[in-house]
Amino acid sequence: MSLLVLKSSPTGPMSVSNTLVNEIVARHRELDPGVAVTERNLDAEPLPHLTAMNVDGVRAHAVTDTEIEAREVSDRLIAELFAADTLVIGAPMHNFSIPTTLRAWFDHVLRPRVTFGYSETGPKGLVTGKRAILALARGGPYVEGQPDHQESYLRELLAFIGVTEVDVVHAGGTAFGPEARAASIAEAQTAIASLVGRRLAA
Ligand SMILES: Cc1cc2nc3c(=O)[nH]c(=O)nc-3n(C[C@H](O)[C@H](O)[C@H](O)COP(=O)(O)O)c2cc1C
Repeated sequence: MSLLVLKSSPTGPMSVSNTLVNEIVARHRELDPGVAVTERNLDAEPLPHLTAMNVDGVRAHAVTDTEIEAREVSDRLIAELFAADTLVIGAPMHNFSIPTTLRAWFDHVLRPRVTFGYSETGPKGLVTGKRAILALARGGPYVEGQPDHQESYLRELLAFIGVTEVDVVHAGGTAFGPEARAASIAEAQTAIASLVGRRLAA
């Protein structure tokens, strides 16, 4: 088994989503000591945003040095994705969506003819046979009716490249004081133990 782990919180060791990601990795290690883990902290080592300087390197033809550099980064990230069988993504909610550091990863990884293509029936994901676990955190509670472009957006991006088997654990209400935050993390940790146990038994 191999995990590709993406962290995107700007709060480092204090981060709720990073705590959940670490728990997911620890549970996998407990049940499968041979698990291979590749980790990318997209906050500590941010990827460049796509701009006029580099966008063609990822989406068209790489000609300039900056475009070639962007193409190489994209190739590396995609190779890491294809090498993993499970993708673990930690994401805090930022302005109802995901941190731009994580969005930049998707901008490098969604590549026409490499991770997605088009068939007669529409877009077709080319990253098949993989699962994902999303570890999400947010200041407000996870209840119906709250604006949410975090989980739905991540599911949409992943489905577009072919990753449709997605599990989600979340800790909400982290802005409601230390007790609410701790209770939410504890609840998510219980959910992680049962999720990883189920997955590795399957
Ligand atoms: C820039 C920024 C934007 C945020 N936007 C939202 C938001 O739209 N909704 C929400 O519920 N919480 C929002 N929060 C709060 C975080 O989602 C919350 O603190 C969460 O626990 C962060 O996860 P982390 O500890 O893994 O970084 C925001 C925090 C930051 C820094």
